[in-house]
Amino acid sequence: MLKHKRQNVLAILYDGGKAAEEEPRLLGTVENKASRNGSRARDMNSSVSSSKEGADSDFQKHIVDAEVLITTPFHPGYLTRDLIEKAKNLKICITAGVGSDHIDLNAAVDHRIQVLEVSGSNVVSVAEHVVMSILLLVRNFVPAHEMIERGDWQVSEVARNAFDLEGKVVGTIGAGRIGYRVLQRLVPFDCKELLYYDYAPLPAAAAETVKARRVEDLKQFVSQCDVVTVNCPLHEGTRGLVNAELLKHFKKGAWLVNTARGAICDKDAVAEALASGQLSGYSGDVWNVQPAPKDHVWRTMKNPLGGGNGMVPHYSGTTLDAQARYANGTKSILENYINKKDQEPQNIIVGLGKYESKAYGQR
Ligand code: NAI
Repeated sequence: MLKHKRQNVLAILYDGGKAAEEEPRLLGTVENKASRNGSRARDMNSSVSSSKEGADSDFQKHIVDAEVLITTPFHPGYLTRDLIEKAKNLKICITAGVGSDHIDLNAAVDHRIQVLEVSGSNVVSVAEHVVMSILLLVRNFVPAHEMIERGDWQVSEVARNAFDLEGKVVGTIGAGRIGYRVLQRLVPFDCKELLYYDYAPLPAAAAETVKARRVEDLKQFVSQCDVVTVNCPLHEGTRGLVNAELLKHFKKGAWLVNTARGAICDKDAVAEALASGQLSGYSGDVWNVQPAPKDHVWRTMKNPLGGGNGMVPHYSGTTLDAQARYANGTKSILENYINKKDQEPQNIIVGLGKYESKAYGQR
């Protein structure tokens, strides 16, 4: 569905269909494109498409000429090293949102292509989703609601696996913008303890505010948690981090929430841990491939009692409030680029020939 033929700016967004026609605030869609309010940006040739897979996709055909690439994590255009090598004019990749792992960042460093994201734009949106997901798993909400839709009423069937969050130990892998906001939001729930695992320690005052304790060994960390929430970027050091081996160290029957990136958790190991009851629940909105295939095991996996699945499509960070913020942020990154102005330092993941962010692994 390419809208223009020649371009300097290539944007890969998702099709919004009827919803986008009816709701103009769906700015992350092809129809209402994320940077549409651009002023000088409008003078550039731009192409907007959702077609991103395979050699004949608009993405792969037009990346060859593009100078600016705009993508969104919600419908990721996977910019591999191979594609980067073909993209001779590419200067800057802008992620409309947070999380640029769909771009081969090491290849971007090697080819002096800058990668920027709209840091902070949707971190509250995700933190709220995490708290909701923790609650819906711990309280066994989904099976209880499904029972009601079916017309049944058997309280014991759902109460047998419902608990309070109060008194539980909750830990976050990654205590950056989202992880810390999750901890802040959990304070009033009177959890037994809040833990975090991150190579970057929280400033002492911030840790003290939420009374969070750092655990430096990952196995020891997960073995103490009733609930683990994943809030770190996907990079070489986190791909497959939660795998069959680590899951053995989880408390039996723990709950796992991952709104960071699907590939941080091993797909089959998670499904097996849920089926065996090693995990009581798994919830999140991110998948190892997006869109997730119809037969993806995470769509239907269940714990031995038939519940414990809180999966949704990737939307926690794309509420209408978040879309307004990341559309504005995308526009201002694009305008800074066109006008040769300095970029906001916190938005720069990869600068010219080097990582500027410390969040994508220890180097
Ligand atoms: P951030 O950069 O503020 O924080 C990330 C934290 O993770 C940093 O403190 C970093 O030190 C830590 N970290 C990195 N590698 C680690 C490792 N191996 N072990 C433990 N900690 C590690 O990023 P922010 O804004 O909190 O976002 C985190 C991630 O959440 C994004 O990179 C993205 O993948 C995901 N996200 C998902 C969204 C959604 O809609 N589901 C929306 C926004 C972000």
